[in-house]
Parts: sequence; structure tokens; C-alpha cells
Amino acid sequence: MGRLQDKVAIITGGAGGIGKATAKLFLDQGAMVVIADISKEALEKASLEIDQENLSYCVVDVSKPKENQKLVAYTLEVHNKIDIFFANAGIEGTSKPIVEYPDDIFDNVIDVNLKGVWYGCKYVVPKMTVGGSVMITSSVAGLKGFAGLGAYVATKHAIIGIMRVAALEFTSNKIRVNTIHPGPVNNEMMRRIEKDISPENPGEVLKGFEATIPFGRYVDSNEIAQMALFLASEDSKMITGCMHIVDGGMLT
Ligand code: NAI
Repeated sequence: MGRLQDKVAIITGGAGGIGKATAKLFLDQGAMVVIADISKEALEKASLEIDQENLSYCVVDVSKPKENQKLVAYTLEVHNKIDIFFANAGIEGTSKPIVEYPDDIFDNVIDVNLKGVWYGCKYVVPKMTVGGSVMITSSVAGLKGFAGLGAYVATKHAIIGIMRVAALEFTSNKIRVNTIHPGPVNNEMMRRIEKDISPENPGEVLKGFEATIPFGRYVDSNEIAQMALFLASEDSKMITGCMHIVDGGMLT
């Protein structure tokens, strides 16, 4: 018996680094998983790579209300229930000071990182089974400022507010809602940030970030997946409305 035996889990941003690692772990633990992502191509690639019959995918833009409703309809049609919701899709925007930050990129980051979580809580969570679990991916940038990442930092702080309110509002169904706060994770998003900050020498940015992590290395996507598993499982059944940091001591 796996720790998520016969549970149905939705993972948004499911074709990306953290989402895919979590999908694999949840499947290993007996869950049926729907990965949702804006990129059909990435979803197809992830499905081929994971190659498990209990995995399916749905192309979804989390920033749109109707797309969240589509995700619910798809999951209920295929699996008849939703036990676990990992609201994990997110984008980094760009690295520029507030005074130079392009308005269209700011809007885009708000749409995906903030509205995406809001609509997930509005449209997906009410359809979940009693006793379900919701995890929302924030960041260390939800707990601390990082110069140049204003839009990202703002949204990752704001979704803690959504988490706290949702945790209170869904208690009657005993649905737990928590945030996960990864430190810098060694995957594609971080590669993009490194190149954006220093196109000439992304390796320097990598070293700079690593120097701020007391454990001296980036977090691995699998280490975030392990936190998601704990929060999705019965092991955390009295934990709700909390922030869970996985950062190798970065915020200490
Ligand atoms: P990633 O870039 O590999 O994955 C993000 C996924 O979200 C991508 O597959 C992308 O296609 C998808 N996505 C983007 N916009 C979407 C939309 N509108 N609707 C649906 N899907 C959409 O990056 P990673 O690291 O797996 O990111 C997952 C979460 O972790 C994000 O919320 C990110 O902000 C957060 N995070 C990442 C850190 C890192 O260092 N990589 C550190 C802290 C938090």
C-alpha cells in the first residue's frame, strides 16, 4: 500500500521540474495523477517520460477561470473525485528593478502566480472530497524580498494570504491548505533566471545563489516532492494554514 493509495491528485505546472518530480512520487505511492500545464508539448513529453497508466494530462491555463473549470470537469469525468490539489504552476517574470519592470510582464506574473492560485481555490477546491489536501507552491521569495524580482516576490507573498483564508474557509470539509516554500531549485526555471540576470555569465549567478544557501547547494525538485507527499498524505492530517520551507537553511 502506498501512502496515497487510490487518491486522485491534480498537479498544475505538472510538466515542469517540481510538478513532474511530484507526479512521479505520487504515482509511486499509489495515486492517480492528472498533470495540468499550459504547454501541450511539455505535457506530452512528461507523459512519455513518466509512462504510467495512472497518469493523464490536461492542457490548462491556470490564469483563466474557465480553464480551471475544465480541469475539474476532466478530472471528475476520468476519476470521479479529486482528493489532492497541488497548485504549483508559476512563472518567474523578469529580473528588473520596479522602476524598469515592464508592465506587461508584471501583469502576466500576476495572472499566473496570483490569479492562478485564486481560481484554483475558487473552482477546484470546492469540488474536492472531504478530508482532501491542497498544497500551493510559494517560494523563499514569499517570505523575503529579492531585489529585481518584484512581481514574483509580490505574488509569492500574496498567495500566503490566499492559503490562510482558504485554510479557514474549507475547514467544514476538513480540507487542509498549506504553502510550500522552495529555495532555489536546480531546474529550468533557475536556468532562465540565471540567464536573465547575467546573459554573459550565468554560472556566476549560480555560484552567487549557492553562496546564500547554508547547505551550499540548490534544492532538488525531488526534495520539494517529498514535502508535497507529506502534506498530501494522512501523516499531516492536523496541519493546515501553515508555511513549509525547504531551502537548505537559506532563510535561517
Ligand atoms: P518550471 O518552469 O520547470 O515549471 C513551471 C510549469 O508551469 C511549466 O511547465 C510551465 O509550462 C507551467 N505554467 C506556466 N504558466 C502556466 C499557466 N498559465 N497555466 C498552467 N501552467 C503554466 O519551474 P518549477 O521550478 O517546476 O516551478 C514550479 C513552482 O515552483 C512555481 O510556482 C515556481 O514559482 C516555484 N518555485 C520554483 C523555484 C525554482 O528555483 N525553480 C524556487 C521557488 C519556487
